[in-house]
Amino acid sequence: MAEFVTISQAGDVPPGEGRVVEANGKEIALFNVNGIFHAIDNTCAHRGGPLGEGALNGTSVICPWHSWSYDITSGECLTNSEICLEKYEVTVEGEEVKIAV
Ligand code: FES
Repeated sequence: MAEFVTISQAGDVPPGEGRVVEANGKEIALFNVNGIFHAIDNTCAHRGGPLGEGALNGTSVICPWHSWSYDITSGECLTNSEICLEKYEVTVEGEEVKIAV
């Protein structure tokens, strides 16, 4: 069974924004879409750009380095359909945002 670890306080990621957080030594991109949190790997498959710093457009994020985009609900790369980043299950308990690792 997956273990959930706290990665952020809910109020630290306003709606429509993302953050780079860390869990078990891995960088995770955490996003808030209208109060629903999504988490995928932070590292862009192109050249390693930080997706948690990218611009959010609905449920897709645009890499800040060379504009590849990803579906943050699935981890799928929308620029190269052969790529899919890891997506993490997210739960919110009170103010604590947790992901399954
Ligand atoms: S590193 Fe993300 S698009 Fe190039």
